[in-house]
Amino acid sequence: MTENLDLFSAPAPVDPAQPAIRIKALRDQLNHWAHQYYVLDAPTVPDAEYDRVYRELQALEAAHPDLVTPDSPTQRVIGAVMDGLVPVRHAVPMLSIHTETDTEATGAQAFDARVRRELGLSDADPAIEYVAEPKFDGLAMSLRYENGRLVQAATRGDGEVGEDVTHNIRTIRQIPLTLPGDVPPLLEVRGEVYMRRADFDALNERQREQGGKTFVNPRNAAAGAVRQLDSGITAQRPLSFFAYGLGAITPLGEGGPVFRTHYEMLQTLKSWGFPVAAQVRIAVGAAELVTFHRQVGASRDALPYDIDGVVYKVNSLQLQRDLGFKTREPRWAVAHKYPAQEMATKVEAIDVQVGRTGKITPVARLAPVFVGGVTVTNATLHNLFEIRKKGVRVGDTVIVRRAGDVIPEVVGVIAPTLGTDVSSLPPRGADPALGRPGGGVMPGTRAGYVPNFRMPNACPVCGSDVVREKGEANHRCTGGLFCAAQRKEAILHFAARRAMDIEGLGDKLVDQLVDANVIRTLPDLYRLGLTSLVALERMADKSAQNVLAALERSKQTTLPRFLFGLGLRHVGEATAKDLARHFGTLDAIMDASVEQLLQVNDVGPVVAQSLHTFFQQAHNREVVEQLRACGVTWPEGAPAERAPQILAGKTVVLTGTLPTLGRDAAKDLLEAAGAKVAGSVSKKTSYVVAGEEAGSKLAKALELGVPVLDEAGMLALLHAGAAAEGAG
Ligand code: IVH
Repeated sequence: MTENLDLFSAPAPVDPAQPAIRIKALRDQLNHWAHQYYVLDAPTVPDAEYDRVYRELQALEAAHPDLVTPDSPTQRVIGAVMDGLVPVRHAVPMLSIHTETDTEATGAQAFDARVRRELGLSDADPAIEYVAEPKFDGLAMSLRYENGRLVQAATRGDGEVGEDVTHNIRTIRQIPLTLPGDVPPLLEVRGEVYMRRADFDALNERQREQGGKTFVNPRNAAAGAVRQLDSGITAQRPLSFFAYGLGAITPLGEGGPVFRTHYEMLQTLKSWGFPVAAQVRIAVGAAELVTFHRQVGASRDALPYDIDGVVYKVNSLQLQRDLGFKTREPRWAVAHKYPAQEMATKVEAIDVQVGRTGKITPVARLAPVFVGGVTVTNATLHNLFEIRKKGVRVGDTVIVRRAGDVIPEVVGVIAPTLGTDVSSLPPRGADPALGRPGGGVMPGTRAGYVPNFRMPNACPVCGSDVVREKGEANHRCTGGLFCAAQRKEAILHFAARRAMDIEGLGDKLVDQLVDANVIRTLPDLYRLGLTSLVALERMADKSAQNVLAALERSKQTTLPRFLFGLGLRHVGEATAKDLARHFGTLDAIMDASVEQLLQVNDVGPVVAQSLHTFFQQAHNREVVEQLRACGVTWPEGAPAERAPQILAGKTVVLTGTLPTLGRDAAKDLLEAAGAKVAGSVSKKTSYVVAGEEAGSKLAKALELGVPVLDEAGMLALLHAGAAAEGAG
């Protein structure tokens, strides 16, 4: 704040005779804040403060239109609409740059060797100093400033003649419209206009919401924005800028600046208000270039913007002049690329894959393409919405992206095909969520798009129905426990502590059991024998016995735990308890209609439908029957209206280890009968249920004369109460 001009200490009385002075002070202040905000990424005033000053300037300018200049911060978006872009001849051509695509070491070494040879250096001579920069993936721009004011912005074009895009470039807040007083009278700054990844994602999100066109990547979005005829549109596409060089400049003899090195020039541009990438480094000799290439490559995906390589430049401007040019490329610079993260290829087919939670993912089968350093033949299309949104068809040429270790994805279509119409495909069943029957159009679908892929009706792994619930983007297999793809996940969920609580049945063991085909369905768990367990790798006799004991213990459970353990979508612990309380028995739940299910507390249409669908599948009922046959059991009650709340108003404390029931199971049983389960014993405690190794709580109960029960006593109490209620 210390640098800020003192504009606010008083309500700023404007001397009517001096509006020009006030206007200048306001513009300087706004420019200063904007530089801190947009270039340095370090705001120093609240937005409201900025807005207040901005409005004051707007008001003053409205009162004095003769004082409005094009470099005022109020004039960034002036809504200029062009008939076409006007060609501009560059005062100094915009060169291209030689590209090395070799592996990290050889690319940099070849360049360094070439530079040394051209300069006639021997091995005995010292290493050359370079500047290493990211190679930004946007589009080259030349910004012309005359007497410190932006007068023209031009694209590269063919290097000799570009296009005038000044009206659009003025909307980029990172680009100063006015420079400080000490700049040369003529200054052309060259650099890259690009779009940050986060800005790109937000832009696409907005476009999607508004049903507009989405962009394949930040580079395309930036290029499209720069070449708009209407700068109002450009202003809505958040662009950024990095400076990396100079074009024409006032010569030394006429008061131009003296730069000795490229690095010094970049630092000066920075001091004049231009954004210069923080990654720019001085590197001495080939070895440091190699290190730079490797380090930037490793952090590539973490950068907020896309790069497609790095650029090495000889630092000394004298050496640059000595080296000169070869046709249209400087001998003092080279681009060293990384493997492309995006490539074009053809979609040969679209298949689906079933994930561990039943999610059906459409996958594009591609003509093999080398992208992100590997050959890719499959790429995810995420879901049907994404296919429609991107307008992908079998036969299209698409852009495939593989960044880092992320699975390859289809980002968009570049050359659509006009192939078979969807009406020639086998029909899909009615999908009310899609606005079918008859093939409705999904919201957000690319305009004019005729799909030639259909989501299958049946799961390719198990043949169960495939559904998509309202409000969901993903299709799912309804096969649940029956579907091999979902088995591991289902078993782990079933065994979880809050479900059947099978101790020792973790990730690794479940993987082994399913992979070895020992467990195909949940009931198979209870058919496990010592022999098959011990046959598994890294399974000792003792641990196998522990697993079997845990399985045996888990058979005594409660209805909510069992229901929750089945892993139905949308049925969490709370819903499982509500269902058990409402219906009393599993059979009642399985046979309930959607309408009956809707009677349950907190069960809405989505849950009701999901439950109903699940229990309509014969194989799911079969799994339940087999689990019961294996000895899985729980106390069944009457429906909630007649549920025996025999422990209503009573407080029970559990302590020690019970012989068969786990702590949670005992708690559930007590709570279902209306008891409150507390953590400490007092005079108000109705019962203490004590197991093995009960300690201080048992002592306290005995001291206070609170009745103490063991597990059998507790179960007897519950059953006696239930029987009495039933009789009464
Ligand atoms: S220097 C004489 N530096 O790469 C060399 N170019 O140049 C002039 N690019 O489309 C270019 N990042 O827009 C230079 N740090 C960087 C760059 C860079 C990206 C682009 C440039 C042009 C292409 C070839």
